[in-house]
Amino acid sequence: MSIHVTIEPSILYFGTPVVLLSTENPDGSFNLAPMSSAWALGKTIVLGIGRAGQTARNLAERPDLVINLPAAYQWEAVERLAPLTGRDPVPASKPDGCRFEPDKFGAAGLHAAPSDGVRPPRVVECPLQFEARAVSVRADASGSFVIAEAVVSKVHADPRLVVPGTNHVDPGAWSPLIYTFRHYFGLGPELGHSYRSETRPEQRGSVVGMGQEAAETALVVEERAAGPVHVGLGDQADDHDVVADPRSVVRQADQVR
Ligand SMILES: Cc1cc2nc3c(=O)[nH]c(=O)nc-3n(C[C@H](O)[C@H](O)[C@H](O)COP(=O)(O)O)c2cc1C
Repeated sequence: MSIHVTIEPSILYFGTPVVLLSTENPDGSFNLAPMSSAWALGKTIVLGIGRAGQTARNLAERPDLVINLPAAYQWEAVERLAPLTGRDPVPASKPDGCRFEPDKFGAAGLHAAPSDGVRPPRVVECPLQFEARAVSVRADASGSFVIAEAVVSKVHADPRLVVPGTNHVDPGAWSPLIYTFRHYFGLGPELGHSYRSETRPEQRGSVVGMGQEAAETALVVEERAAGPVHVGLGDQADDHDVVADPRSVVRQADQVR
C-alpha cells in the first residue's frame, strides 16, 4: 500500500541544470536570461521559454544563441538575473517585482566574450559555453511558452573540465547548478556511472574539482594564459551523449576580453 499523499504544487520544477541564454535584441545589444527547462537530445538542446519574455522574441527573429552553463557556486549571479527582463515595457504577465534591464551582463556581474560562429556573446565566467542556432521555435500546447530546438555548433570548455587529450567533459570536475522547486543546489558525490561511460576514474587521470576553491581562479578566465578549449563535436551517438571524435580535438586559445 502506498503512503504517498496527493498534492497540488504550484510548480513542477523537479531539478534541472541552469543555463544562461544569450540572445540578440532588435537593436543589436544582447540579452541574458536564466533558464532551467533545458535538456539535450544529441547535439540539440531543447528549451522551454516563456512566450512573453524577450528571449523568446529574440529567438523567433534572430535564432543564434549561446547556451552558457554556470557552475553551482555561481548561483548568486544567476539569482541577480532572476527578477530582470530584457523586454520594455515589462509585460503584465511577468511576476511582481520584475523590471526591465537593458544590461543584464552588468547587472549580474558577468562579462561577455565574442563567440566564434554566432552573434550573441559567451559568458566568460561560465565554464561551459555552447554556441548554437535555434532551428525550430514553436508554441507549446498551453500557448504560454515556446519550445525551441537549438543545434549546438561549438562547445567551449574550461580546460580543467576536459579529460586531457580527449573531447570528454570530466563529470568529476564539472559541477552543474541545479534548480529544484525554485532552490539552487549542486551535485553530491558521484554514485556510479553508466555502462557507456568513457570517463571512468581510471580513464580521466587526476581530477580537479570545480568547487568554490577552484572557482576562485576559474572565474577570471581571461587572466589565464591558455583560454578555454574548443571541444569538437563528433558524429551523433545513439543516445543522449554528445560524443566527440577524439581525433578532432582542437586546443587553442580563445580571444576573450
Ligand atoms: C534559475 C532560473 C530558472 C529559470 N528557468 C526558466 C525556464 O526554464 N523557462 C522560462 O521561461 N523562464 C525561466 N526562468 C525565468 C526567466 O529567467 C525570466 O522570465 C526572465 O525574466 C526572462 O528574461 P527575458 O524576458 O529577458 O527573456 C528562470 C529563472 C531562474 C532564476
